[in-house]
Amino acid sequence: MDDDPVSNDSPNPHFEQLLTALAPHAQIRRRLLQLGLGSVVLPFLGLPALAAADRSEIGFRAIAASTEDLVRVPEAYILQVLYAWGDPISNGPAFRSDAGNSAAEQAEQAGMHHDGMHFFPFVSHGQPSSTHGLLCVNHEYTDENLLHPDGGANWSEAKTLKSQNAHGVSVIEIELTSRGKDVRWQLVRPSTYARRITARTPMRIDGPAAGTAAMRTRDDAGGQRVAGTLANCAMGVTPWGTYLTCEEHFNAYFNGLDQPTPTQKRYGIRARSAGYRWHEHDRRFDVASEPNEANRFGWVVEIDPWNPGSEPVKHTALGRFKHEGAMLTLAGDGRVVVYMGDDEAFEYLYKYVSRDRFDAGKPGGGAALLALGTLYVARFAADGRGQWIALQHGQNGLDAAHGFADQADVLIHTRQAADRVGATKMDRPEWVAVHPRTGEVYCSLTNNRQRSAVDPANPRADNSFGHIIRWREGDGQGAAAAATSFAWDIFVLCGDPQHPDPDKRGNIRGDAFASPDGLWFDPDGRLWIATDISGSAVNRGDHERFGNNQLLVADVASGEIRRFLTGPRGCEITGLTASPDGCNLFINVQHPGEVVGGRFAPAKPLTGAVWPASQFPELTGGRSRSATMVIRRQDGGIVGC
Ligand code: FEO
Ligand code: CA
Ligand code: CA
Repeated sequence: MDDDPVSNDSPNPHFEQLLTALAPHAQIRRRLLQLGLGSVVLPFLGLPALAAADRSEIGFRAIAASTEDLVRVPEAYILQVLYAWGDPISNGPAFRSDAGNSAAEQAEQAGMHHDGMHFFPFVSHGQPSSTHGLLCVNHEYTDENLLHPDGGANWSEAKTLKSQNAHGVSVIEIELTSRGKDVRWQLVRPSTYARRITARTPMRIDGPAAGTAAMRTRDDAGGQRVAGTLANCAMGVTPWGTYLTCEEHFNAYFNGLDQPTPTQKRYGIRARSAGYRWHEHDRRFDVASEPNEANRFGWVVEIDPWNPGSEPVKHTALGRFKHEGAMLTLAGDGRVVVYMGDDEAFEYLYKYVSRDRFDAGKPGGGAALLALGTLYVARFAADGRGQWIALQHGQNGLDAAHGFADQADVLIHTRQAADRVGATKMDRPEWVAVHPRTGEVYCSLTNNRQRSAVDPANPRADNSFGHIIRWREGDGQGAAAAATSFAWDIFVLCGDPQHPDPDKRGNIRGDAFASPDGLWFDPDGRLWIATDISGSAVNRGDHERFGNNQLLVADVASGEIRRFLTGPRGCEITGLTASPDGCNLFINVQHPGEVVGGRFAPAKPLTGAVWPASQFPELTGGRSRSATMVIRRQDGGIVGC
């Protein structure tokens, strides 16, 4: 497949149009509309086709790269900080700028280091609201030097608890309010929906690995319940109105063995692996004491934001690896398809296909679709074709003779199963996005400087700047998301057009950028690209001309890419979602002010980003705080249009 404009304008209608036709019962429609737009692609199900015209042109003037310590957007756009680390989720405790909130208080406040998120609108008069909704926000990790008044010194059980409570997910209720000329989003306080899910929240395990011997611990003899989720990176949304949060660098929380087993090694679980010290006060995270606990992390977790009393569920059928995100779509026959990257150099790209079909009339049965299905891994061939290879016990050499006793064994050891079937080693797969009309799938491969053997899908040995790969399922005609073969090409090679090394110039048609991470299609089909150049590289050496991490917009038909936003120093941009009308874009500014090495100095916790006092007074002069921001146009129009 070449780089020409998209020609397969298959007739995938927008999600809300399908809901109108498929869900006549008012309550069911309400439930389904609470999903929001642009997040789940439904296939052609006999409804009229959309007009062929593609409205994904980019309508703003690009901004320059920036190294300033503030957020910049194009002219005529408005920025607002909505929800920063430590803000109360409801009528809870206020943030203490010296980080003096207790562990219990942290459990009622925004966690640290926001990542993936989604806006779920309320439904009013049969229409999804663009002024009132629930926002689910991942809190990926903690910097202990920011989290406690004296940083990581004098490590204690209280600090461990606070750290665990700063992980997980927020569910907050937000609305757009206006008082005179002051129009702004704010949290609804109190809110009956407000909820924090942390690294200690009880949750259920389902799927083939639930209850098996490798999932049992002293706290959970049945192997079916686990406390908490962590390393919550990107996300997904289901057609039945729930949120998926993905466990990425879970290995970092476990103190492994000096002599790790091959499996522990394959997942990076080693002694003193990443500096977290939870294991000193919570034996679950000490592998020598609780060898199976690490098997209970590295999964995709489902949360029902509309039911604050509901128990989250870890879905083992979707495999265990460093899950970046879980982009869900539906195949033409209604089966659920989930795309997932494993974010580590030379890891793989996965797809899950449910056994059963989604029934819009029975949205309550949705969770079962993530418990029973087939996990596949991608193999890219040099001729522009590719295959999805089933990771199914008894197939493709995944059997007892090769060390896989059953399907639970395959899923707990997903990486080894993918090794066994000859999957293609990728340059760090991050987010996946599906075009809302064509069904074409895009995946960011953020970077990988360690490759010695190139292949057509990962064509640069020193891939400092990353690329975005894309594919069309099956024969490329229609909504064949469940197909076991695909046609692929590279959408863009990132790079600096002024770089002296031709191999690092890339082929961007527009503004230069590097390390693509967050990918999200808005309902009109514009592809939003968020970058995450690491703190050790940003604004240095051959990354100097890219500036701070940023947000760009691509017209995938023409290939044009324009810079929309630049973040403050040290941050990455992530968490892309919007109100259904497209007029309010929500982003996350993660780890603003981060220093080289990735952690603040304990003696200088305030040396982070400074925000413009005129717009972000609550953040001036204090500790750097990851925050959700809202971006609107002054004229109230569609963002990016
Ligand atoms: Fe949490 Fe791969 O980013
Ligand atoms: Ca990421
Ligand atoms: Ca990243």
